[in-house]
Amino acid sequence: MTRRSSFLNACAHLSVLALVVTLTACSAPAAKTPAPVAPTATALPAPAAPLAGLPAAALKTQFPPIVPPPDNPTTPEKVELGRQLFYDPLLSASNAMACATCHHPDLGFSNAAAISPPRAGAPGRNVPTVWNAAFNRHLLWDGRVESLEAQAVDPLTMANEMAAAPAEIEAELRAIPAYVELFDAAFGGREQAVTFDNVTRALAAFERTLLSRNSPFDRYVAGDASALSPQEQRGLALFFSPQMHCAECHQPPTFAHETFRVVGVPSEDPGRAGVSPAGVRGAFRVPTLRNVARTAPYMHNGSLATLEEVVRFYADGAGRANGFPSVDPLLKGFELSPQDLTDLVAFLHALTDESGLPPVPQQALSGLPVAPRIASPAR
Ligand code: HEC
Ligand code: HEC
Repeated sequence: MTRRSSFLNACAHLSVLALVVTLTACSAPAAKTPAPVAPTATALPAPAAPLAGLPAAALKTQFPPIVPPPDNPTTPEKVELGRQLFYDPLLSASNAMACATCHHPDLGFSNAAAISPPRAGAPGRNVPTVWNAAFNRHLLWDGRVESLEAQAVDPLTMANEMAAAPAEIEAELRAIPAYVELFDAAFGGREQAVTFDNVTRALAAFERTLLSRNSPFDRYVAGDASALSPQEQRGLALFFSPQMHCAECHQPPTFAHETFRVVGVPSEDPGRAGVSPAGVRGAFRVPTLRNVARTAPYMHNGSLATLEEVVRFYADGAGRANGFPSVDPLLKGFELSPQDLTDLVAFLHALTDESGLPPVPQQALSGLPVAPRIASPAR
């Protein structure tokens, strides 16, 4: 064990704030530059955490409330309808593409491709997970959509995605008695309930149930000290350390943040600047790291193949090393031993929890085949 990692190990038993402070003190032996890590103007507030209490418990924070729009309260009937629709290729013009084709349940509700086809107003991008999308106030990499209901419209109708015409979807669904039953149970009104708007409502209701919040990390902070291995605990300490700054952007409990930051993977994508006059070019929403071990490749353009590559990219100073001028000031690079790398990646794996995966239909209600299950090597 290196001197630094034994240091970190010792420090891992402290509350977040104490952890940050202590690691600053502990970090001196191995810090790349002697300069103290001062908060910058753009630094995010430290993750909210109680000042006192048990060490790991201090990292336990409340998930934000899930607030469905007033006209779409979540009900079990709607969720069940949404689950069937999510997997049903009937919703696409070709009858060959479902939401689950790109948001595959065995790939962290993402897919293995670097990018998907471009959309109106946005270039081709990596498919983000929909696990915990319920907590996102801004959806998509550039945050241009603000509700799951509204978000469903694009993939359903875009020519290069599912390319469906709303009236056609309605007619096809109305012709299937099992769907009429489900729409009726969810919304009432028999055939009248089978509308495009209700399709988007049911999909959104289903997505709001895709919650991942019982990972080894969650069990550890809830008091089960054995939930994280010593290696994962070292990785946790690195993740929350003032050298690496990871937790300042990827804030628990979502490990995401509702801000747009420039990391700087080489890309022509304008990011937030493409959708908001106040947006910075190349800034993207801080994505969740929950179930991130399942969703390779990484970044908005899928340009980094593995979590190891992502961590090395940050260690090298992220886009700064590639000459990107506006890279976030938190991303100055850090020293990374081979041990640190495996420890940090082990911690990222400890953010995996798929216990809330609802049953995946073996066949769509329309009779069409659903995307075949994939044995996940990471599982
Ligand atoms: C062809 C692949 C593809 C299909 C099919 C598809 N999506 Fe997506 N989805 C994407 C891509 C790519 C993005 C990110 C686009 C961007 O950020 O500009 C995305 C983003 C999302 C997001 C935003 C997640 C977040 O946290 O920002 C949600 C929610 C979503 N899709 C739901 C759906 C639903 C529901 C369907 C079916 C109606 C669907 N998708 C079909 C590729 C796809
Ligand atoms: C300044 C804020 C910031 C800091 C600090 C930061 N990240 Fe990120 N992270 C982001 C943003 C923004 C993205 C998306 C960038 C893009 O797609 O171009 C991202 C993407 C990622 C991804 C890819 C997620 C995916 O689904 O594709 C991983 C993994 C990741 N970060 C891990 C880390 C780790 C580990 C650290 C600490 C070493 C860290 N991040 C520090 C903002 C940050």
